[in-house]
Amino acid sequence: MGKCEVIPLAAVAVLSVFVASGYAQQSQSSLSAAAPEDSYQLAQATPDPALVKRGRKLAARKGCAACHSADGSSKAGPTWKGLFGHSIELADGSTVLADEAYIRQSILDPNAKIAKGYSKGLMPRNYTSKLKEQGIQALISYIVSLK
Ligand code: HEC
Repeated sequence: MGKCEVIPLAAVAVLSVFVASGYAQQSQSSLSAAAPEDSYQLAQATPDPALVKRGRKLAARKGCAACHSADGSSKAGPTWKGLFGHSIELADGSTVLADEAYIRQSILDPNAKIAKGYSKGLMPRNYTSKLKEQGIQALISYIVSLK
């Protein structure tokens, strides 16, 4: 094989990896359990330490910490330790990947998906009016940091 044949081959290989990873991302939303592609998302998730700190304070101030622990212990709600990036069982028997979108939805529309072992209506539904976008991002960053 001559040198000039190797270069186009390498280009094809790079291109197909690119296409394949794009495809994997697209199909991810239809997966219910954690799949290997999730490492892509998790690798991206190194939250900003300043936001994490803000999130921790907000969680105390807004009352989240009264129901959610950061150390695995159970309170009125599920612990946040190990939540992000993991597959979560829901009350209806399905599973969902706890990515950023899931965490955001859980905060803003808590009855949309109920974690297994808990019931509807326990988590307050009025955080949409109590939190600004920045605060939501800080809380998500804090939860991500507890992965
Ligand atoms: C009165 C108790 C209570 C408070 C206060 C509360 N939550 Fe919750 N939360 C729950 C319960 C119970 C669930 C599980 C049922 C459900 O999914 O709605 C839950 C679920 C969640 C989940 C999904 C967890 C999982 O394992 O699937 C997230 C994320 C979350 N809450 C974030 C927050 C944030 C952020 C705040 C504060 C802004 C907050 N919660 C305040 C009780 C509470």
